[in-house]
Amino acid sequence: MDAVVARRGATTPTVIDVPRPEPGPGEALVRTLRVGVDGTDREVLAGTHGGFPDDEDYLILGHEAVGVVVDPNGTSLTAGDIVVPTVRRLPATGTNDYFERGQADMAPPSMCRERGIDGAHGFMAEYFTSPAETLVEIPESLAPLGFLVEPVSISEKAIEHASASRSAFDWQPESALVLGNGPLGLVTLAMLDGYDRTYCVGRRDRPDPTIDIIERLGATYVDSRETPVESFPTVHEPADFVYEATGHAKHAIETVAALAPGGVGALLGVPESWAFEVDGGDFHKDMVMNNKALVGSVNSSAAHFRAAADRLTGFPTWFTEALVTDVVGVEAAAEAFANDERTIKTAVEFDTL
Ligand code: NAP
Ligand code: BGC
Ligand code: ZN
Repeated sequence: MDAVVARRGATTPTVIDVPRPEPGPGEALVRTLRVGVDGTDREVLAGTHGGFPDDEDYLILGHEAVGVVVDPNGTSLTAGDIVVPTVRRLPATGTNDYFERGQADMAPPSMCRERGIDGAHGFMAEYFTSPAETLVEIPESLAPLGFLVEPVSISEKAIEHASASRSAFDWQPESALVLGNGPLGLVTLAMLDGYDRTYCVGRRDRPDPTIDIIERLGATYVDSRETPVESFPTVHEPADFVYEATGHAKHAIETVAALAPGGVGALLGVPESWAFEVDGGDFHKDMVMNNKALVGSVNSSAAHFRAAADRLTGFPTWFTEALVTDVVGVEAAAEAFANDERTIKTAVEFDTL
């Protein structure tokens, strides 16, 4: 079967022929429909994040998948179920407390593998197998957009954790600032419907399709070249919630400066090492004297996937149509990983229902 892979030493994906997987005990066989691409996939290809399975010279890419069960193999699933796989799996060292408690999303990197990202093959192939408990059922009507469930689930978790950090007092957020106009930033902006005022930071000139989406969502576009994130409160207003989805390491520090007293920032980006100067005293004092919180968040659980499927159903059609700029066949898979300014969210299609 065809599989889209990253090879050691190569920075563009290749399509290779690999054996169709056989489901093991407790696993179902899934026929892949579509697999989305995000910034993490490009980081994996660039060699700055994740890693190959042990003793293999390639990694099957893809962690944002939707497929249809073709062989339930004695599990609770039924042939024809539409499913979205979660990403994290046990490490080579075997089980640990995080997996035992059903909280793989809270495991540190050394205590898990991530399919398509770190140490385990992903889903960008005609078929994949996965333990039944890692396959989240979604309605058939969501199948064409099912590859968006995983990225939306990332924000379900981050927003849940950020809100939980403010649950000890009567937090009444009104303004939210999203850093990053990539697919993660844009889906998050679309999720922030409880806020009176929303803003989204990019570094693009108009006309630009992401700026069009930002404005159609009712948010204000902020160009970080004109308004650095730390100046955001004086140019606009301090934000009750900041969601960082740029992977720009300075934004982790600037998030705190952009927050209103009692606000919370969620950090999602996965930057490379970058040393720069920070006034640690100001940063520390600002956090303390203004009761600010900063939450890092990675990955998501099956419960977040279920919340994401509900959320997707509520997105306006114009939004998902504008967000998904390309769905390409496997022969054109490399195009789905390209990162030009016309491209927002892309997916590789292996089959249709
Ligand atoms: P992406 O497609 O690379 O999007 C990042 C966006 O941020 C781009 O649109 C980029 O603008 C913008 N940006 C970068 N630096 C900026 C700056 N200094 N000022 C203004 N805008 C800036 O990635 P994504 O898929 O949306 O994901 C965003 C980040 O989250 C990535 O680092 C990814 O690895 C991470 N991520 C984390 C998780 C998690 O579980 N924590 C899950 C998914 C993704 P241009 O396009 O104009 O360059
Ligand atoms: C994936 C997560 C993963 C994270 C870190 C993200 O792009 O969506 O599932 O945990 O990267 O590798
Ligand atoms: Zn991802």
